[in-house]
Amino acid sequence: NNCIAIAIDGPAGAGKSTVAKLVAENLSFLYIDTGAMYRAITYAAIKEDVPLENGQKLRDLLDSISIKLISEEKGTKVLINGEDVTTDIRTNEVNQNVSLVSSHELIRIEMVERQRVLAESGQVVLDGRDIGTHVLPKAEVKVFLTASVEERAKRRYEEQLKKGIETDFEQLKQDIARRDELDSTRAIAPLKKAVDAIELDTTTLTIEQVVAKIIELVKERV
Ligand code: C5P
Repeated sequence: NNCIAIAIDGPAGAGKSTVAKLVAENLSFLYIDTGAMYRAITYAAIKEDVPLENGQKLRDLLDSISIKLISEEKGTKVLINGEDVTTDIRTNEVNQNVSLVSSHELIRIEMVERQRVLAESGQVVLDGRDIGTHVLPKAEVKVFLTASVEERAKRRYEEQLKKGIETDFEQLKQDIARRDELDSTRAIAPLKKAVDAIELDTTTLTIEQVVAKIIELVKERV
């Protein structure tokens, strides 16, 4: 069976996108960063002054723009109406508002639909919050990636430092914990481990070790 979908879910900063991208590269699968899609609509809404608590207005905006994800060596390049917003969707402002925007049913219905279309080829790795539970409930391999809040904040902190941005560690920790709380308690498709997902606590694992484990899981299923 060469039609395999890999679902990688977990809380913020667990390393999902890094790991998902490497797994996809290794297997020559398509990598789909679903968080980038929610980030893109959040960024567009802030820019266009669309009220973030209004699901219908957000949906109208989503229907009126084009969001493109392009998988690249460095990560996912994101275009809105052809404009490169790759770095704009990773700001604190977007981090702090993306959970609210992605809690709206009208937004989720459309995003999930797009994600399923993108996943149709079958040779895919998707990372997000609801891939194993909702987007692709029949995914052949489901992984739930976790790590302690402390460790996840540390990784983000170091990531920022590398970009030359000095951030407040405690603030970072609080932001991550708050986003997890919002994502896990929302009414529609909350962040949750699928019953048939394999949980990988990455607190003490390297990226290479996590990638190797997932590839092992995939090989077991082929
Ligand atoms: O993965 P990333 O941190 O980029 O996701 C940003 C936000 O997008 C999450 O905190 C969550 O609110 C939302 N999201 C979601 N469902 C997904 C992926 C992301 O609700 N499948």
